Amino acid sequence: MQVTVHAVSDGHYFDDDPGRGSDPSPVEINLPDVALVLTADRGVFSSGRLDPGTKLLLSEAPPVSGSPTVLDLGCGWGPIACVTARRAPDAVVWAIDVNSRARTLTEDNASSIGASEQVMVAAPDDVPSDLTFDRILSNPPIRIGKAALHDLLLRWLRRLSPGGVAHLVVQKHLGSDSLARWLDGRGFATTRLVSRAGYRVLEVRPRGENP
Ligand SMILES: C[S@@+](CC[C@H](N)C(=O)[O-])C[C@H]1O[C@@H](n2cnc3c(N)ncnc32)[C@H](O)[C@@H]1O
Repeated sequence: MQVTVHAVSDGHYFDDDPGRGSDPSPVEINLPDVALVLTADRGVFSSGRLDPGTKLLLSEAPPVSGSPTVLDLGCGWGPIACVTARRAPDAVVWAIDVNSRARTLTEDNASSIGASEQVMVAAPDDVPSDLTFDRILSNPPIRIGKAALHDLLLRWLRRLSPGGVAHLVVQKHLGSDSLARWLDGRGFATTRLVSRAGYRVLEVRPRGENP
């Protein structure tokens, strides 16, 4: 049996400290209603471009409007948080990630678009325990493994406000359909909002009070 061992210095994009040297670079976001140039970096998910799944989510999930409290679960360098802040200036957007470099990038990117008061960047355990969310938007970290992903999603989906909804983008070949079935079986009505280019955008709503 061949075993591949990854050196610690290679790190993963979902490590607390990505390990790799920093090499920031600009990334363009071009959506029909929002154009931004933000900064990404090595050691963070999709450091060279806006991930196509994230672009689909930002294009197809119903746009955030009004003054909701929004969670960007697994913010990376912050494209979802920054686009949401730009679209809904009265929303409060919590952007959380385990990766410390991702959090710093999101803070800096929010600041660069004048949204530092609006985008609250935090490590997951630092989010106030009584806070609930009207919307969750996420390109979740599928690669952390199924059990960890399930725990992560249950942890945060249970914090949707009454009437709240989550939109998740997941690649079909990384298990979007089985994830949808699993969520459905755990008390979350889950429908496929869009299916395109190998990605699904899932809409997830709690069925009862405490799924
Ligand atoms: C697929 S990436 C998406 C990043 C960014 N939202 C985007 O669309 O470019 C998933 C992110 O989830 C983060 N992550 C992994 N485990 C996490 C956890 N337990 N809590 C919060 N974020 C986590 C990773 O560090 C990574 O930045």
